[in-house]
Amino acid sequence: MDRKWEIRMKVLNFGSMNLDYVYAVDHMVQPGETQSSTGMEVFLGGKGFNQSAALAKAGVPVYHAGQIGEDGRIFLEAAKEFAIKDDYIKVCEGKTGHAIIQVDKNGQNCILLYGGGNRTITRGFVDEVLSGFEKGDILLLQNEINELDYIIDQAYEKGMQIYLNPSPFDQALDKCDMSKISCFLLNEIEGGQISGGETEPDKIVDSILAKYENAKIVLTLGGEGSMYADKDKRFRQPICKVEAIDTTAAGDTFTGYFIAGVLKGKTVEETLKMCAIASGIAVSRKGATPSIPYMEEVEKFL
Ligand code: RIB
Repeated sequence: MDRKWEIRMKVLNFGSMNLDYVYAVDHMVQPGETQSSTGMEVFLGGKGFNQSAALAKAGVPVYHAGQIGEDGRIFLEAAKEFAIKDDYIKVCEGKTGHAIIQVDKNGQNCILLYGGGNRTITRGFVDEVLSGFEKGDILLLQNEINELDYIIDQAYEKGMQIYLNPSPFDQALDKCDMSKISCFLLNEIEGGQISGGETEPDKIVDSILAKYENAKIVLTLGGEGSMYADKDKRFRQPICKVEAIDTTAAGDTFTGYFIAGVLKGKTVEETLKMCAIASGIAVSRKGATPSIPYMEEVEKFL
């Protein structure tokens, strides 16, 4: 692993942890239909934990903050295995969040979430976590935990750089002050939702930049690759073509590797290429957290 670079600021990811119950299906179950699955496996997941795993596997020291129930202690073991700092992973009363995931024969998925501990975060816990961070530190967020608006306000007040993956896109985001976000990492569906219905990548980023001119935008476009945009620069990167086994956590892998590239001082072009390889590898494997590659694996393809 490349150890020649040094990260001066701390990186905190305040996000979800889910036990993923993954069912192999012929096609997504339709309303009124009963379908037998051809297999079921349980993997570690949650957009939050997946993104921490991607950062850690890319070599970035990351603190993960969030809540699990007693039934989720396996996340503490996984954090140790991947070298994710677990100081702020709290075991709370009640159940760990979980996801019911159907993966079809083309590797596409659909996901049903149960929030559990991800949705019982208190402002006291937020304050406790943020007290360990300061101006210039990086905060990564997704939209699978409660108190997102409060976390954004408090972190901004401290001068942290806030990276937001607004996924899943729902009404909780309406309460968040998006002008406090330094970097949006989103897919084209979320891009359409945040931009009021745009579908063309350039129009999506135009619309976001018109509202938040200093933001950086990383837009993933499925089979069309990805795009980076800020007020001075735009760049497109094609995907790495692989046989899709399971697309779960491909976006999370992209997010973690993008931040790793930024922190390593790589150019946007180098970073998006690295992200395309990392997420391509994730798509070629089953599961969420376990599908995310280590940097050594990504470097073999660079
Ligand atoms: O992005 C993939 C993740 O979304 C899954 O691991 C699932 O837990 C949901 O959070």
